[in-house]
Amino acid sequence: MFTPKTIIEPFRIKTVESLPITTRDQRCEALQLANYNLFSIAADKVTIDLMTDSGTSAMSDSQWAGMMRGDESYAGGRSFYKFKDVVQDITGMKHVVPTHQGRAAERILFSLVGGAGNFIVANTHFDTTRANVESSGAAAVDLVIAEGKDPQANHPFKGNIDLEQLSDFLAMHRGQVPMVLITVTNNSGGGQPVSLANMRAAREICDIHNVPLFLDCARFAENAWFIKMREEGQENRTPKEIAQDMFRLADGAWMSSKKDAFGNIGGFLAINDDTLAAECRNVLILTEGFPTYGGLAGRDLEALAIGLEEVLEENYLEYRIRSTEYVWESLDHFGVPLLRPAGGHAVYLDARQFLSHVKPEHFPGQSLSVAMFAEGGVRACEIGSVMFGRTLEDGSQEIGPMDLVRLAIPRRVYTQSHMDYVIEVVKYVYEKRKSIKGMQITEEPPALRHFTCSFAPIDWNPLVL
Ligand code: F0G
Repeated sequence: MFTPKTIIEPFRIKTVESLPITTRDQRCEALQLANYNLFSIAADKVTIDLMTDSGTSAMSDSQWAGMMRGDESYAGGRSFYKFKDVVQDITGMKHVVPTHQGRAAERILFSLVGGAGNFIVANTHFDTTRANVESSGAAAVDLVIAEGKDPQANHPFKGNIDLEQLSDFLAMHRGQVPMVLITVTNNSGGGQPVSLANMRAAREICDIHNVPLFLDCARFAENAWFIKMREEGQENRTPKEIAQDMFRLADGAWMSSKKDAFGNIGGFLAINDDTLAAECRNVLILTEGFPTYGGLAGRDLEALAIGLEEVLEENYLEYRIRSTEYVWESLDHFGVPLLRPAGGHAVYLDARQFLSHVKPEHFPGQSLSVAMFAEGGVRACEIGSVMFGRTLEDGSQEIGPMDLVRLAIPRRVYTQSHMDYVIEVVKYVYEKRKSIKGMQITEEPPALRHFTCSFAPIDWNPLVL
């Protein structure tokens, strides 16, 4: 019997959007105008945009058709009930509160359960999660397993939370931990999955200490697929059954639906506790909107409800995870230093090794991202000393724990030849790496500097590698 080796995109293309094909001069001009900050580059100068997989998905024909069916009633719209039914079917949670995106859900939740003196404990907080926890006055504690912090360590579930540390922490801080949260997949740790066994054990520890367990489930379907592929006894189950098991272990969840719901905007909170859900709805009315639309249009809710079902299709998930692996494997064969193994939504270049001659205080991740843009118009995102480091009072740099460059892959947007092009650009920059000398920050804001700071190259010209 013919068994094809090629895993094809399980869709065909009905609408196309032109890609900006730019000249080197145009890219270089754009870089100079942006002070070498890729966030300041207009998207029409970017040929392949791998800055994020958030809100950048291609919606399906069904989703677009759903947009026309969206019910825009202020209260009790049909689209809300459809959305609520789908979220409840997957999560099993009693209450569903729509929000306009993930961080709105975080803001609502942590304004209620955070607060000074409290600790929110996670495998790894995503940066908006950490910011919302901290702005409530609480402290955000990351307890991912040791392998999850080592880019070179190989582990099937590098997103797992360290159970011993979790148990010790809860015992030591009795009454001070209002919530344990598990981010699936672990975005800040490389898009790495968490196993069902780990979640089950975390649940037991939470039960002993009477602490609720929540999931930050932006990429829950990708996590379910990894469980199916890698966890013993899960291979014959559907991604939906596995996802339902993940949520059954939790008391609540929130989602940025800009990822695994193929939404261009959207999010939700799903909660079992009646009192907490009522409190969330009260804050929602204040900041987002009425509880049956929560900062979204009815048509968005309709599209998200459809997307949440599509994302659990096996053909899609097989293609999705395999296509990320394909980029990872091609770069790995060439010797490009990578965070291993491949993540679900992204491939992370290990810039500290890639540019081992550039000191971390000269931002190897930023330098590499700039070179990739100058060479091929590929926009990636530095996740390193620009994002997590800071300038000290004496002007020196405190560096971040790792210097990574994330190539985040939007869902259903780029074809294999687009990815082959990206691979070619990265390989070329790798061959020319010795010409890249590092960057310095010339101007920076007081907080979240990576979005707006200015850079200058140190003794090299990114415009001619
Ligand atoms: N949680 C996780 C795990 C995320 O990856 C994100 C966003 C959020 C929460 C916040 O959701 O953007 O809808 O408000 N991640 C994007 C990224 C921005 O590029 O990884 P949001």
